[in-house]
Amino acid sequence: MLAAPPALDSAEPPAKRARTDGVVVPSGISALHHIEDWYEQNKEQFTPPVCNKLMYRGQLSIMLWQSKTTHTHLTDAQADMVRARLFVGGPNTRKDFHLEEGSEFFFQLKGNMELPTIQNGERKLVKIKQGQMFCLPSRIPHSPQRPEAGSFGLVVERRREGKEMDGLIFYEDFNTCKKVRWEKFFRCNDLGKDLPPVIEAYKAWEAAGASAKEFREEDRPVNQEKEIEVPEPFSFEDFLAANAEKLAAGESVNLLGLDHPDKEFEVFVIGGRSEQTGKSSDLETWLYQVKGTAHIAVPSGTLALNEGCCCIVSGVNFTVARSEGSIGIVLRQNSRGNKPTNGDGQA
Ligand SMILES: [Fe+2]
Repeated sequence: MLAAPPALDSAEPPAKRARTDGVVVPSGISALHHIEDWYEQNKEQFTPPVCNKLMYRGQLSIMLWQSKTTHTHLTDAQADMVRARLFVGGPNTRKDFHLEEGSEFFFQLKGNMELPTIQNGERKLVKIKQGQMFCLPSRIPHSPQRPEAGSFGLVVERRREGKEMDGLIFYEDFNTCKKVRWEKFFRCNDLGKDLPPVIEAYKAWEAAGASAKEFREEDRPVNQEKEIEVPEPFSFEDFLAANAEKLAAGESVNLLGLDHPDKEFEVFVIGGRSEQTGKSSDLETWLYQVKGTAHIAVPSGTLALNEGCCCIVSGVNFTVARSEGSIGIVLRQNSRGNKPTNGDGQA
């Protein structure tokens, strides 16, 4: 059986030691973390208004997000003051929509979240419940809402390439999203650092009288996706149950399926006993061990990836040997996946 999503109790003091402390990591492997321990050690640093923290930043960004109501270093009154300064329209919700060229992969580890999106030009509310996964393809406006105290999730994104820009959009009416009230596009390296100044710019614009300005879609550096319908979130446990036989036989199963409209993420769930090889490439590989242990061999050594741990492999050939009954996730994200092709099938 799958281990339940990590039990993350925000009432507990931060862990002094993580299970991965002191582990010698061969070169080519980095960001070895036990997700639950990492959260415990870092949860004080998830600060409003964005409330995320990068676990790793490279070609992939591995982020953890939590609700805005679990900042144990702030009293409720202090937290309300912070929110009142930084947020629009209420203490517990962000009203901005994020638009970016890359896709985003969500895994909701504790509690539930909501993700209003604009699909086919219409507002559509996506509900991502505890234990569910969701893949949001490129260029779909979305507004993560985590009003539940203690809710907590993992999001994977990729590094922005070339001249790619991110946008933050505020609509006249958050509940209908028919007309843009204000928007700004910017270069994004770290959401946690790059979003707050944009939110502040919006606040300043409002404070200065919110002068009427027409925002035209043709002026945007990002073309909003309006053609595709995004598959609903799904339970990871249900996925594992449905594929239990294959995984027990050591097979590799495509997590999102071939019909998914997103072509940036390549995510496989792999059972043991089995062995796979990965070639050195520009893309980083994120390995997350859901159950049991895997051994990752790179030219300079071998790392045991234990249950609940994840790591990044980059720039080296590698082999993953999976023990019997083990289950792991292998994820890559290719920035060319959702780009228009030039007619030769090349992005
Ligand atoms: Fe986003």
